[in-house]
Amino acid sequence: MEFSSKSAALPSLACACLVVGVFEDGKLTEPARLLDQASRGHLAKLVKSGAFAGRSGQSLMLFQIPSVSAERVLLIGLGAEKEFNLRVYRKVVDKSVRALLDGGVTEAALTLSMLSVPDADVYARARHAVECAGDAAYRFEQCKSKPDKHQTRLQKLDLLVSGREELRAAERGIGHGSAIAGGVALAKDLGNLPPNICTPGYLANEARKLGRGGKLKITVLEEAQMKKLGMGALLAVSQGSREPAKLIIMEYRGGVKGAKPQVLVGKGITFDSGGISIKPSAAMDEMKFDMCGAASVFGTLKAAMQMQLKLNLVGVVPTSENLPDGNAVKPADIVKTLSGQTVEILNTDAEGRLILCDALTYAQRFKPAAIVDMATLTGACVVALGHVVSGLFGNDESLVKELWNAGEKADDRAWQLPLYEDYQEGLKSNFADFANVAGREGGAITAACYLSRFTKGMRWAHLDIAGTAWKSGADKGATGRPVPLLVQYLLDRA
Ligand code: BES
Ligand code: MN
Ligand code: ZN
Repeated sequence: MEFSSKSAALPSLACACLVVGVFEDGKLTEPARLLDQASRGHLAKLVKSGAFAGRSGQSLMLFQIPSVSAERVLLIGLGAEKEFNLRVYRKVVDKSVRALLDGGVTEAALTLSMLSVPDADVYARARHAVECAGDAAYRFEQCKSKPDKHQTRLQKLDLLVSGREELRAAERGIGHGSAIAGGVALAKDLGNLPPNICTPGYLANEARKLGRGGKLKITVLEEAQMKKLGMGALLAVSQGSREPAKLIIMEYRGGVKGAKPQVLVGKGITFDSGGISIKPSAAMDEMKFDMCGAASVFGTLKAAMQMQLKLNLVGVVPTSENLPDGNAVKPADIVKTLSGQTVEILNTDAEGRLILCDALTYAQRFKPAAIVDMATLTGACVVALGHVVSGLFGNDESLVKELWNAGEKADDRAWQLPLYEDYQEGLKSNFADFANVAGREGGAITAACYLSRFTKGMRWAHLDIAGTAWKSGADKGATGRPVPLLVQYLLDRA
């Protein structure tokens, strides 16, 4: 989809479809009022008839309004005016784009970007409109034998602004929004791909593809190299799989030479069967999404490159399958991690932390300004927080605050859970330095506690995205989260 910003007189703007908002109880927005005036009360009459009440998300497609040049006008309900905010704005952009696609519209102009939204300037309104439009228009069709011929493709969306002086900020918003939408789409694609295609080897090639523009330095460590380094935990997970594990490193140097990089680490389990501690078969297909942390690293790097962010950024992706096999790791096995600490693997289904711990230790060689890891780590996090916010943990309150703020700004929210020392004792092992699991209670926290043992002395935070990285049910699919949060975090540091 192509985006541009425009400042134009509304009734005379020639376009295929003009999207205008109406507040609850039929209160017309300024763009709607201008159309109403030109058409001598066409919209007011419609509202009065009860045909359109302006309920949040309501939509109505109109044709041939007198004295209005647009071929069609899409009315979109904004809800109560005093409750209008960035989140409602995003929701109505989403609804608008879905209604446009539903109506077979391929080009449209949006007046929603002209509305005043608390805490969102023109830049933010343009950027969020582009992000939401990209989200709403996303389709995953790579694995269909032929494309859906009934599917409309929105080709062009003009974002209208109130005056020429707003154009520059809107263009900047469109630029950032497109980069974020592109990153989100990449993360969704990788997440949605089936596990027989999206293997560790596939992800390694995807990294090489991303590096082709010459802006990334790509390194892929193979199992033999990892063995030499001493990554016993990561290799324990992959030993039951025919697909060799990889450790993918992507370095983006957009900042001054020698400046400490931000390091992003993403869990890349391309399929999690649980291993010998095998999962029940119901919904096991969803464990193809267990590489969504990795996908968010790819998506964020892609966006950072496109935005030419002035900072140094390193992505580290440990990737493996987790399968049972005659050679698979067993409950009670003890392995030595890259950090030198030994771990008793009491549950082979707690594999995410095993691949992450060696990646986190490895990441320290980059002397990071901060390390943030993203992982679909625990079902317990979904129980605690549902699908609305990601779990947020860290050993540095300022870093946690920065990530929390980024999530709010990007509308990709996270909520902090505690990492109190008291939770650590659950990981006690009689045979190794510690175990890879604690009891059932507080599972998201004890998983984070495990990771914290590999990040001592670093500024580190962890996002448990088990509830936010994908949706189940009729709309099953990856969400691309937390790419928006991560890009915002980087934007705020660049
Ligand atoms: N990938 C799963 C976590 C998960 C489960 C995410 C369900 C989303 C939905 C992870 O590898 C896992 O299996 N975690 C275990 C940990 C337990 C064995 C301590 C879990 O959550 O059950
Ligand atoms: Mn697991
Ligand atoms: Zn997993």
